[in-house]
Amino acid sequence: MATSTNSEPASSATVAGVAIVASVILLVIRNTFRAQSSLDYIPSVGVPNGPLGFYRGALNYIKNARAITEEGYHKYPGKAFKIALANRWVVILNGPTLIEDLRKAPDDSISLAEGTNSMLHLEHTLGYEQHHDPFQVPVVRTTLTRNIGVCFPLVHDEVVAAFEDLVPVKGAEWTAVPAMQTILPVVSRVSNRLFIGLKCRDPEYIKLTTGFAQDVTQDAMLLHITPSILRPIAVRLFGHLEGATRSAMAHIGPIIQHRIEMDDKYGPDWPNEDRPNDMISWLLDAARGQPSRRSIRTLSRTLLNVNFGAIHTTTQGLLHALYHLASRPEYVGPLREEIEHVVREEGWTKAAMGKMIKLDSFMKECARISPGGAVGMLRQVVKDFTFSDGSTVPAGTLVGIPILAEHTDHAKYTDPDTFDPFRFARMREEAGEGTKHQMVTPAPDFLVFGLGRHACPGRFFAVNEQKLIMAHVLVTYDIQLKDGVRPPDEWVALLGAANSTAEVMFRKRST
Ligand code: HEM
Ligand SMILES: *[C@@H]1O[C@H](CO)[C@@H](O)[C@H](O)[C@H]1NC(C)=O
Repeated sequence: MATSTNSEPASSATVAGVAIVASVILLVIRNTFRAQSSLDYIPSVGVPNGPLGFYRGALNYIKNARAITEEGYHKYPGKAFKIALANRWVVILNGPTLIEDLRKAPDDSISLAEGTNSMLHLEHTLGYEQHHDPFQVPVVRTTLTRNIGVCFPLVHDEVVAAFEDLVPVKGAEWTAVPAMQTILPVVSRVSNRLFIGLKCRDPEYIKLTTGFAQDVTQDAMLLHITPSILRPIAVRLFGHLEGATRSAMAHIGPIIQHRIEMDDKYGPDWPNEDRPNDMISWLLDAARGQPSRRSIRTLSRTLLNVNFGAIHTTTQGLLHALYHLASRPEYVGPLREEIEHVVREEGWTKAAMGKMIKLDSFMKECARISPGGAVGMLRQVVKDFTFSDGSTVPAGTLVGIPILAEHTDHAKYTDPDTFDPFRFARMREEAGEGTKHQMVTPAPDFLVFGLGRHACPGRFFAVNEQKLIMAHVLVTYDIQLKDGVRPPDEWVALLGAANSTAEVMFRKRST
């Protein structure tokens, strides 16, 4: 009795632990039967026959996702096939007709949000209200996109300042920096200059925004192996969301508070100071008359959520571009020439970015070769859905598109496995193709930003930001890799990411 107060947290953790393990076993058994019966008529790829075939297939897929997905792509043209991902099947929709079905399917039949929720447990890892009222999506799509031009000087200012701080070059000497650990904070600062203003430079805030994605994925992995009934407890004991929210509120709470007070007093026309033109204001505009959105807590979480979607994605594209450029110095000349010519005419503006056709092509080619993984556009079927080939996929099924196989199909690209950075620039030069083949334009042969209604609403900003950062690097520094060889992508199951540990060497530009 005497120890009961002290031991209570430990013992409830133990009970939770035992319950979790027991339920995992039950869950695994149940899923095996459920998953295998209802999708029987869809052929599987990479899954051996015989006992425990599903689990051997799932292990196989962790190592060989790219090859297995590509095998299915060629073996079942125009048809669906399935792959074993961890504890469930993923139905891969192959070919233009099925992709078109997916694009056209209404949200109450096939859902992006529920697909992400089933993989990342958004209700617990980002927050209940985040999952059910994602009001930042239209703000990103319309207000943010409309303001890229007017906010461009601030964004450019932040790019210059971030590189001065994070890439400490001395004279003509080479300085090696870890690429990922340098580009992540650059992207956090540059994006958040637009989201929250100069507070973006606070090192603790940068740590929060760049580390939050890992919090989310770590919590999601825990929740994956926790049965739904125990998830609220598991989140309370081990989750990161509450701590991250409090930290975000400590950093930007006072800014939001001031903004709300001034809006309440004066509306949009403040006396004595200008109402800042940033994401906080845009979110507040979208929260007018809706108290559930208009709290410091909700707005702090919403900004965490936006950062979650914005920072690592943008960083990946930049890392690929840096590694390609640093290992292929022959592309530096033509890119510099284009950038300097355009900047002389247009300055560092959004209009200038639009005229950097070679740079756009270079970035797009990096994304074509490394689109983030073998499978993308993952969605959950939420109501039994019949595709136009007649096959019916039951509610609860995860579906996706073989984006890398699409991007490297000989029928779509000449020499698809060759890195050819100016291929899209050449296509644009051809008569009548002036505005086509741009990086921001999703297409069946370019799926990095998805396709259709849900195509990434942040892509106009993301592409402008990526091009601005690369243009700044190109005209400011010489870069190279220590051993001259582009580090290979890192693959885990269906995700393929840029090398996370390689160093890139910078020096003040010599010519
Ligand atoms: C190069 C960087 C980026 C890439 C590759 C990327 C990619 C994507 C993809 C693939 C989707 C899902 C589309 C689908 O499944 O159809 C998506 C959704 C989304 N992205 Fe991005 N993204 C990037 C940058 C950004 C940025 C900078 C922001 C915000 C400023 C952002 C905000 C969002 C939001 C809010 C959604 C959800 C859309 C919805 O629910 O309908 N993204 N993004
Ligand atoms: C990443 O690059 C570094 C340096 O080139 C290398 O040592 C490491 O093995 C690479 N990682 C992977 C997973 O290829």
